[in-house]
Amino acid sequence: MALIELTHVKKEFSGKNGAIKAVNDVNLAVEQGDIYGIVGYSGAGKSTLVRLLNGLELPTSGTVMVKGQDITTLKNKELRNFRKKIGMIFQHFNLLWSRTVIDNIKLPLELAGVSKADQRKRAEDLLELVGLKGRGDAYPSQLSGGQKQRVGIARALANEPEILLCDEATSALDPQTTEEVLDLLLDINKKLNLTIVLITHEMNVIRKICNKVAVMELGNIVEEGDVVEVFRHPKQAVTKRFVQQELQPEDDKEEMLASFIKENPEGQIVTLSFRENNANEPVISQAIRAYQVDINVVYGTVQQANGSTLGSLTVLLTGEPREIEQAIAFFHSKEVGVEVLTHG
Ligand SMILES: Nc1ncnc2c1ncn2[C@@H]1O[C@H](COP(=O)(O)OP(=O)(O)OP(=O)(O)O)[C@@H](O)[C@H]1O
Ligand SMILES: [Mg+2]
Repeated sequence: MALIELTHVKKEFSGKNGAIKAVNDVNLAVEQGDIYGIVGYSGAGKSTLVRLLNGLELPTSGTVMVKGQDITTLKNKELRNFRKKIGMIFQHFNLLWSRTVIDNIKLPLELAGVSKADQRKRAEDLLELVGLKGRGDAYPSQLSGGQKQRVGIARALANEPEILLCDEATSALDPQTTEEVLDLLLDINKKLNLTIVLITHEMNVIRKICNKVAVMELGNIVEEGDVVEVFRHPKQAVTKRFVQQELQPEDDKEEMLASFIKENPEGQIVTLSFRENNANEPVISQAIRAYQVDINVVYGTVQQANGSTLGSLTVLLTGEPREIEQAIAFFHSKEVGVEVLTHG
């Protein structure tokens, strides 16, 4: 059984105009050690979904199993103990401004009744883990956004949780700081074997650290799977929009494509997608040698996803239709993804 398993989970809120289905029949399995990304536009139900994972919300129907335990059956004290084992970090850090950094980190330990000496020791260790050694006496207002989030992470780890939930934890940070915080999350995932469930509306966050991804729309998970696979073959329109978001702006591409077609009315335009196992093979020159076709590049991109290289190349194939067909079959045989954009 997976570490976290949601089965037919629904969460409704009552609104002025009837029930709001924030989460609508969601099935989800998160394995131990995963960095599981949940992506979706505003209002998709992402925050509600993660709040269901730590019992901050209870489902209207369906089951939420964590470590084989149905959390809807937990009583007050059990629920409090269970929540301690799930850390959470937020977009706006939620630090206490009147407390120093070290006292912010100690807070959950105080609440858990840990001895003063152990609080101190644990908080110092955590400060070092998140790269803030020596900054314990500073106040949150004296820290940069990235440093504040590091404090948030240290505090979330205080009770040695097995699961860390991150709700838009990097959305208030600039790109450089986002990278640093993501590196830290990746690091603690490895070092502490911590399972992370991360919500974001930024696909680069998913691409950089997640191994799995689920795409949410209107309370439903509309697509999910291995990050590399989803980036390579996005199926739903919403997923395609997210995957494209950080490549070339869509408008630029369409413009380039339109002017290219105008100049080259003959032939067929296809997008080839490569991944690690074929990215280094000269499949394009092999195709040109083997078949009577010419290949012209329209545009291309290369990116890293979960440690794998993904490349995509949009090209114009010209030649006899039969030769073009054979060249495309050859790409398929090399496990290169082929998406036909136009038929000339
Ligand atoms: N406590 C609540 N009471 C009533 N409606 C709620 C409540 N919490 C969430 N909702 C509604 O449920 C839907 C999903 O909200 P949720 O906060 O989960 O979305 P989200 O994907 O996290 O959005 P965002 O990206 O803006 O944070 C929205 O329509 C929201 O208004
Ligand atoms: Mg939200």
